[in-house]
Amino acid sequence: MQQLEDKIRTEGQVLGDDVLKVDNFLNHQIDPELMYAMGKEFYRLFQSKKITKILTVESSGIAPAVMAGLIFKVPVVFARKHKSLTLKDNLYTATVYSFTKKVSNEISISKKFLDEDDHVLIIDDFLANGQAVEGLMEIITAANATLEGVGIVIEKTFQKGRQLLDAKGVHVESLARIKTFKDGQVVFVDDQD
Ligand code: G4P
Repeated sequence: MQQLEDKIRTEGQVLGDDVLKVDNFLNHQIDPELMYAMGKEFYRLFQSKKITKILTVESSGIAPAVMAGLIFKVPVVFARKHKSLTLKDNLYTATVYSFTKKVSNEISISKKFLDEDDHVLIIDDFLANGQAVEGLMEIITAANATLEGVGIVIEKTFQKGRQLLDAKGVHVESLARIKTFKDGQVVFVDDQD
């Protein structure tokens, strides 16, 4: 998606060998117009599927997921990383290990928001090692719901997430695919060499 790639080039910051900071428009401050355009793009990519629900993980997946939900006209459910006073029982849970942060989080979704009639589109901000998506897939399986696809805002193709999902036959669409970082610049898969 050209608009997103342009935004990453102008406002993204490469940190070290493998991290892209995008807190100007996605991870902290949010650009609503860009989120809306991304929602429309997710709709274009998955409109042939019967989607009844969108699933994401808090916090940075929520903005793009809500915009997609707005256009698909379906509810959006986000997995929570912390138990709350009102979210304790009747939960589907999965353990998600973050390679970036080196911590395990338990993610949970209330059983009342997912069931066997649901056809689910997962949306998340980054695809790196694929652990967050795997955790959501575990929950979808536990609920006997059907996974229709995975929509990712920014995929880092040099990490193992895509390989893992391809091996499971999952339909993955990413709005921006990063091949590598070179001299502090982002190189996209579709860039000319
Ligand atoms: P995975 O979900 O693909 O396995 O990714 P990984 O464990 O490597 O990453 C853990 C967290 O770091 C996730 O966010 C993920 O979105 C984020 N992340 C991964 N690579 C990058 C990157 O290059 N740049 C940025 N900015 N984030 C990255 P999270 O812990 O769920 O955080 P949040 O959603 O609360 O912001």
